[in-house]
Amino acid sequence: MPKEKPELSDAMKKKLGGKTFIKNPIQGTKYTIAISSAKGGVGKSTFATNLALALKKAGCKVGLLDADIYGPSIPKMFDINEKPKSDGQTLSPIIKYDIQCMSIGFLADQQTPMIWRGPMVTSAIKTFTQKVSWKDLDFIVVDMPPGTGDTQLTFSQEIKMDGAIIVSTPQEVALLDVKRGIKMFDKLGVKILGLVDNMSYFIGDDGKKYNIFGEGGVKKTAEDFNKEFLGEIPINPEVGKFGDQGKPIVEANPDHEISRIYLKFANKIKSTYL
Ligand SMILES: Nc1ncnc2c1ncn2[C@@H]1O[C@H](COP(=O)(O)OP(=O)(O)OP(=O)(O)O)[C@@H](O)[C@H]1O
Ligand SMILES: [Mg+2]
Repeated sequence: MPKEKPELSDAMKKKLGGKTFIKNPIQGTKYTIAISSAKGGVGKSTFATNLALALKKAGCKVGLLDADIYGPSIPKMFDINEKPKSDGQTLSPIIKYDIQCMSIGFLADQQTPMIWRGPMVTSAIKTFTQKVSWKDLDFIVVDMPPGTGDTQLTFSQEIKMDGAIIVSTPQEVALLDVKRGIKMFDKLGVKILGLVDNMSYFIGDDGKKYNIFGEGGVKKTAEDFNKEFLGEIPINPEVGKFGDQGKPIVEANPDHEISRIYLKFANKIKSTYL
């Protein structure tokens, strides 16, 4: 069982305007794990969906919360087109592949851009964490939006987050943003479980390994910041194909080498917490 994460230091509280924050757990769940990276397009949603499915295959009860209010991905990646039911007080998550799911994309038209101010984003996050009837979950996997904005801040300050996994690709420009993301969680007292190097390399038809975006950068960043390096996931067109079809690779092809990598991550998380 992981230790409770430390409260914010006095220096940090001062930095946040002297405010103290009461961090509530999400009702109906034991542990909340955020999938984050300040950089866009590095594979956070792909990772979050496949990790959720791998945790399920490892025997856990899992929820998937799409915290990307401006650009939700879960409806597409899980092929969900229905609206959640409400009893006037709470929203029921939509269950797909045995995972309890919630996304702003279930409530709004997918084509309509979300032109929302910060406080509205904060209020949507509060609804998803306080007014959804999540039930008996071991884990909620939270798919974070890119950046270090209102969503990350709301989660870090108001919700008991048990860990964050930072996904990156190996390019310098991605790593710059990732460093910002690490510092943000460190400042806000959220434990970083580790860094993942996604789209790390490509195996060509000749069987050779090509490090298209560079090599070793994510691992080095983990070392520089004294964080654990969780591992690499290669580029594989099957990942995108299954994601686009609404059935992520871990569900569609559990024996695929990529699915096995996800299962390893899931077992590690399971044994860390349960
Ligand atoms: N290992 C992989 N191999 C091949 N394609 C991948 C891999 N990981 C992610 N992708 C593809 O990369 C694209 C971006 O992935 P995804 O939407 O998960 O990123 P994201 O970080 O959530 O983006 P955003 O910041 O916009 O939320 C998708 O088309 C996805 O299918
Ligand atoms: Mg995403």
